[in-house]
Amino acid sequence: MTGKEGTRIDPAFVDLIRQALRAYRRGDVLASLTQFNDLQMVQDQLRRRPALGWAGAARAVLDAGLDRLVQAQPEAAHILRDRFVKGRSALQVALACNYSERTLYDRQHEAQEALAEILWQGEAAARRRAQLGESQQRVLDGLPPPTYSRLFGVGDKLERLKGFLRDERARWLVAVDGMGGIGKTALSRAAVEELVIEGRFEAVAWITAQQRFFAWGRAHEVGGPALTYGALLEELAQALQLGSLAALVEEERERRLRAALRRRPTLIVVDNLETAADVQALVMGLDRLARPAKALLTTRHRISACEQVTSLTLAELGRDDALAFIRCHAAERNVPVVLAASEANLERIAQVTGGNPLAIKLVLGQMLSLPLDKVLADLAAARGTGTDFYRFIFYYSWQRLSQPARELLLHMPLLDPRGATWQDLSAVSGVSLNGNFDPALLELVNASLFNVGCAQGEMWYSIHRLTEYFILSDLVRE
Ligand SMILES: Nc1ncnc2c1ncn2[C@@H]1O[C@H](COP(=O)(O)OP(=O)(O)O)[C@@H](O)[C@H]1O
Ligand SMILES: [Mg+2]
Repeated sequence: MTGKEGTRIDPAFVDLIRQALRAYRRGDVLASLTQFNDLQMVQDQLRRRPALGWAGAARAVLDAGLDRLVQAQPEAAHILRDRFVKGRSALQVALACNYSERTLYDRQHEAQEALAEILWQGEAAARRRAQLGESQQRVLDGLPPPTYSRLFGVGDKLERLKGFLRDERARWLVAVDGMGGIGKTALSRAAVEELVIEGRFEAVAWITAQQRFFAWGRAHEVGGPALTYGALLEELAQALQLGSLAALVEEERERRLRAALRRRPTLIVVDNLETAADVQALVMGLDRLARPAKALLTTRHRISACEQVTSLTLAELGRDDALAFIRCHAAERNVPVVLAASEANLERIAQVTGGNPLAIKLVLGQMLSLPLDKVLADLAAARGTGTDFYRFIFYYSWQRLSQPARELLLHMPLLDPRGATWQDLSAVSGVSLNGNFDPALLELVNASLFNVGCAQGEMWYSIHRLTEYFILSDLVRE
């Protein structure tokens, strides 16, 4: 298992967060809260954006924590924002929430504890990061933001994958395969992160292969020209900061890339290899570039009978891991019906989703607004008719989205496939969505149509490739 362990929260830390919240609107007071300013998270913010100053950096940390709290406990986040960011009185907020003042204080107290818990974990992560060298940090920042807080049931796969990538006597190309949503990208990212931290690789060129499509507003052509070997070479050149090599002949491009790959231990990652125009040509090309560089590929289709490649196939989560993941995700997203569900019902969820993590997330998203029994019955019925499970669940989720959420989702294929920040998202769709932007975003996160992850002190939003495929092939065509 990887991720979120750590020590228990210190009660003094909860107090510190209370003080910082109270000082939110008073820059001078906030800036003089030295204990808060000593936090690694605040120092990181200030280093990244010196113009913020101490108070601004402290506010940015509180804001990021509130952004995360919204996802698990929207009401708690609203209470804290109303009270401390907007500066409303307890009475005003109590009236707006239909609470007695006393109940409001109780809720506010719990909300502060929940925020403190989030920031406590954030601080632990920031400290672990600070112990790394600057170049390691830069390499980690270049990876796609994680879509998980913790991975279940991957222990031996993760160890095997790291083993293949560490070993100089093993094959140079390693492929992780398995059906969509099973966790290929997540497992690869986790392995790469650990290998960078242990110093095995000093550079990572992470290339996300995508089906190309024409510009927004015109015809979207899915299944158009996919990743070619030439395009891969060009992306690698960019990732290794060699500038464009497009004007050179192929042999010369390969020669320069090999020279760069020999300079320091490098890992090439090609995520979604199945979208390549010619997988065989790409694999042969990567084999020419490898040694001493290693290449890690993820693909939905197994690369069969290829002596250059070691394959690692991912299967669905076993019963216990599926149940543990369902419980954990339900707690993170605060899905009350699932948290209160009997073991038998959790097993039904595991069964109907086939233990596929993405399917589990999407199904739990529906259980935020619909009765568990109804969702399970609808899905089981769809399974019975042999309908493509993902197509069914995407439509199912889509039909329940509000108009602004639909509009926001349709904008996603325009953005960087690795993820976009709140600013990026609101820049492409904020104007047309106006005041509906935040609720639309929350709706999509809750439905798990958006992945959400935290990296470099910011929230990142992305969509899964299957979601993108659904948007481009089913929705846009319509
Ligand atoms: N073992 C796991 N435990 C918890 N979450 C997982 C696990 N594997 C995948 N996920 C989550 O499920 C979703 C789909 O995983 P992803 O790696 O994108 O699948 P793939 O690349 O195989 O299509 C992601 O949100 C990911 O974080
Ligand atoms: Mg993937």
